[in-house]
Amino acid sequence: MKIGLLGHGVVGSGVTAITDSCAVKRVRRLEVSRILVKDEAELTDPRCTLNVEEILQDPEIEIVAECMGGLEPAHTFVSRALEAGKHVVTSNKKMFAHFCPELCALAAENGVTIRYEAAVGGGIPWMANLTRVKRLEPVQSFRGIFNGTTNYILTRMEETGMDFAECLNEAQSLGYAEKNPTDDIEGYDAKYKAALTAMKTFGAEPDLDAVITYGISTVSSKDLAWAKENGRSLKLIAEGKDDGDSISLWVMPVFLSKNDIFANVRENFNAAESDSKTLGKAVYIGQGAGSLPTAHAVVQDLLDIYVNQDAVPEAMKKRTVYNGNISARFYIRTGKPELFDAVTEQKLAEDTLLTKEMPLSEADRMIKESGDAALFAAMVAGE
Ligand SMILES: NC(=O)c1ccc[n+]([C@@H]2O[C@H](COP(=O)([O-])OP(=O)(O)OC[C@H]3O[C@@H](n4cnc5c(N)ncnc54)[C@H](OP(=O)(O)O)[C@@H]3O)[C@@H](O)[C@H]2O)c1
Repeated sequence: MKIGLLGHGVVGSGVTAITDSCAVKRVRRLEVSRILVKDEAELTDPRCTLNVEEILQDPEIEIVAECMGGLEPAHTFVSRALEAGKHVVTSNKKMFAHFCPELCALAAENGVTIRYEAAVGGGIPWMANLTRVKRLEPVQSFRGIFNGTTNYILTRMEETGMDFAECLNEAQSLGYAEKNPTDDIEGYDAKYKAALTAMKTFGAEPDLDAVITYGISTVSSKDLAWAKENGRSLKLIAEGKDDGDSISLWVMPVFLSKNDIFANVRENFNAAESDSKTLGKAVYIGQGAGSLPTAHAVVQDLLDIYVNQDAVPEAMKKRTVYNGNISARFYIRTGKPELFDAVTEQKLAEDTLLTKEMPLSEADRMIKESGDAALFAAMVAGE
């Protein structure tokens, strides 16, 4: 089966490394025959081309693997591949979170499939396992540590007492964080993955703007010190729940109790947990990023298409995102603590407080209305 690969960076080069060298017979039949690159300097392999038409118009290419990233032209190239009757595999969570329902409908119309295992949790077989759970019963809720960069930064801050900027620099020098880390540290990357998981688990088409999203860009070593004193671990958590008429969906730092399994997911590892009636809680932990682990997930998707699994994607329904049912205490560090007087349960320092239990949507409203860009907010889970 011939494959056209779009993008030959970290993930794309991992895909060719696996397919070119793998001894497994089935994988050897997956031949990357064309690779789209952007610059002449990247024409290092005879399969490379600068012209996407050589892939989209090649009738022998049956699958397009999109590993370019970004919204455009990835969205256009994927749409055109589906319209041309080619299956698609993508690792691009940002593009797919924005266009998943549209692209799944286009795939169904053209009798092909689109798979995106690598887009959430890198190498962790998360989508595949959700599909298996859903064959038997609905998934009621999920949560995840979906971003390896922020997990690495929080782990290092906890271990060393270093401040955010130093740990971000370290993550960048190790290649865990991109030069522009905004999507990671502001929680957007985790939001895209949460939205894709909600689409898969609940068949929901959520409004991305309605997903309450907080990152860790304002976290300080003081917050990690509070976690340590109180036997907690700080993690950037994404969570979703099917509430019937609506779904809840949010991303926020959470102070977890040390006996929560997620509290022990360290460094750049990812974790994902589903909850369903008969299976109960099932947790998957593994490499959430990196060239070969992510490429492994892409190649698994290619193989699933090759063996004709999961032919046509499911239809999705628009679902309201409503976070008013999520209730918790919140840790807030702000230059304007007086704005939270009405909901303060305990003052922790001049600028830091714990709220009483309150709805997440209400906490979100008060935080946004404070207008304090340096404010750090986190949920406090359990007692
Ligand atoms: N890295 C990971 O561990 C990881 C894990 C999970 C998912 N992902 C996702 O996988 C996708 C790829 O990530 P990556 O880390 O491999 O990024 P990357 O290293 O930047 O690779 C992307 C490659 O695609 C090329 N490209 C971009 N636009 C192109 C165009 N119009 N035509 C031809 N080539 C084009 C880029 O070229 P230029 O550099 O010249 O722009 C680059 O070589 C992203 O959506 C990312 O979010 C990555």
